Order: sequence, then C-alpha cells, then structure tokens
Amino acid sequence: MARTGDGIRGWTWGGAAGLVILGAGLAGCSAQSPAILAPVSPKGRAEAELFWFILAITAFVFVVVEALLLYAVIRFRARDPRAIPPQIHGNRALEVSWTTVTALGLAVIFAMTWRTMAATSTPPAGAIPVKVIGHQWWWEFQYPTLGITTANELVIPVGRPIRLTVTAADVIHSFWVPQLGGKMDAIPGRENLLWLQADVEGIYYGQCAELCGVSHANMRLRVRVVSDSEFQRWVEAQRAPAVQPGTPLAQQGYQVFMSKACVGCHTIDGTPAQGKVGPNLTHVGSRTTIAAGLLENTPENLARWLDNPPAIKPGSLMPRLGLTPEEIQALVAYLSSLK
Ligand code: CUA
Repeated sequence: MARTGDGIRGWTWGGAAGLVILGAGLAGCSAQSPAILAPVSPKGRAEAELFWFILAITAFVFVVVEALLLYAVIRFRARDPRAIPPQIHGNRALEVSWTTVTALGLAVIFAMTWRTMAATSTPPAGAIPVKVIGHQWWWEFQYPTLGITTANELVIPVGRPIRLTVTAADVIHSFWVPQLGGKMDAIPGRENLLWLQADVEGIYYGQCAELCGVSHANMRLRVRVVSDSEFQRWVEAQRAPAVQPGTPLAQQGYQVFMSKACVGCHTIDGTPAQGKVGPNLTHVGSRTTIAAGLLENTPENLARWLDNPPAIKPGSLMPRLGLTPEEIQALVAYLSSLK
C-alpha cells in the first residue's frame, strides 16, 4: 500500500497540472478556439474580471488547505506504526472557524457575481435586435428590423450593442461567443435574451455549448465585427434579392437547384425556392464559410459538401443527394455567384 505522503503528493501535482491545463484551455490554444480570457466587449471584460477574482480566492483557499494538510500529515505522522493514535472527537473552535471563513468567502463571491450580473444583464437602449435560432447543426440569424435572414455568420457593427433573442427549432442548443461575453441556452418554444457588443473589428469564434446530437461539436459560428459603413453596405447587399445566374454554367446550376430536393429546405429570395428547414442561401456566396463554419467557402469545398454532406458533418440533415459531378459543378457556379 502506498504511504499517505505519496497519495498527498500525487494529488497536489494532479491539482497543479489540472490548473495549468484549465488555464491553457481557457486562454485558447489556437486562433479558432473561443477564448474567454481575451474579451473584446464590455460584458466579456466584466465576466473575465469576475473569473480572475474568483480564481484568486479559490487559488488562495487551495494553497492554504494544501499547506495545512501537508503540515498535519508531516507533523502528526505515526512514528510508531503499532501505537494507536489519540482518539479525538470534534474541535468546536476549528469547526466554527472553518465554517465561518468558508461562508464569508462564498458570500463575497456571491456579491461579486451578483454585481457583475446586474451590470451586464440588460441591453443598452438602441441595441440592434437579432433573432438567433439554433438548428441541428447550424445557426440562423434574423434581423427583423432590417429584413435580413442569414446563417452561421453574425455580422455586426463595431461598438454597437446587439440584442439577441435566442431560441431553437428542434433541441436545446447554447449560443456562445466567449470573447464577446455571455452564453445563452437556445430552447425550443422559449425566447432567451442576451446582448453583446464588440469594441474591436475582427472575427470572433463561437460554438454551440450544449450537447445537441452527433454534430454538436461541428455547430460553429462566427461573429464578423465590421465598421459602421461596412455594415451599411452589408445590409444593403443582404436586402437585395438574389442575383440572376450570370453564366451558362450558373444558369444550369439554377435549373438543377430548382428541380432537385434543394428547394424543399432552402430559400433563395426572388426564386421559387422557399424552404425554411436549412440555411437561407440568398447570399450564400457572401459568407466566408459553409457547413456551419466547418469549411472555408471555396468552390472546391462547396463541391465536396454538395457531393456528400454527412461525410463532412456527421448526421447532417442534408442528405447525400446523389448529384453527378456535372450537376455539382453547375451548382457550385450558381451558389458561389450568390454574393
Ligand atoms: Cu447545438 Cu450543440
């Protein structure tokens, strides 16, 4: 049997290693990892500050408890293995003090959490409303006041608050863009409120944060934060009806789209395609990614996706349609032209 000292040492090292791994995970190891501790929004900063505050308190508790434990293990270790140690039943002073100190610590954490929640829960006046709908396995974004419906890439102007109404079409999902702060469950039949605001232009990665089926991990999203003028241009472009196919190949792709199952699930404004099950494709060519952020939006990737969606996103509700290579090339030409 291992001696108690070995167990304690192993536990201490395990705890330290766990903290390091946790820290690395939270800081974000790659450019695409959502990073909680690199906030770019007022709300994200408030949450990160709260996190550091609570981490400091709990780290302090960890060190004190470990130190007392090691002291007790070494100072009171059995010197004669055959002797029975003195039998002790309770110590009122110790019990009262560690209960009081723990309760006080928790009260401080509670108060700080309350303060942060109160300061960040209500969206500022004048926020742009966006409806967020989680689907297996992609995100729908509707801008009701702007008349725009898009998917997987939320485009917002820098420095402006956005008021998100979060819901779901099928099962429970969770909308989460760590650098912009906050996480909100997307529940069918319910509308949850979340707001965010980005102070710096750029792309911020998000991820569905509630296990929602086989491709939960593939349910990514991006928030593209742009200048006010770029946002206005984007809005104008998104509000326009879909462009007409401009080349013979794109024209052929249009015919394929309208004659196949595509129309049952997808909408392309200004065409007979009015399906509401899958992402709106009216301006799919203007998005930087396809398949809920899994692939860069390039002709090669689009062709791969059209050929066999479940091979890229397991469980994908878009089935393998058995398209011929010619049909795929035509569809790629058409869909890519939908800027
Ligand atoms: Cu949607 Cu996990």
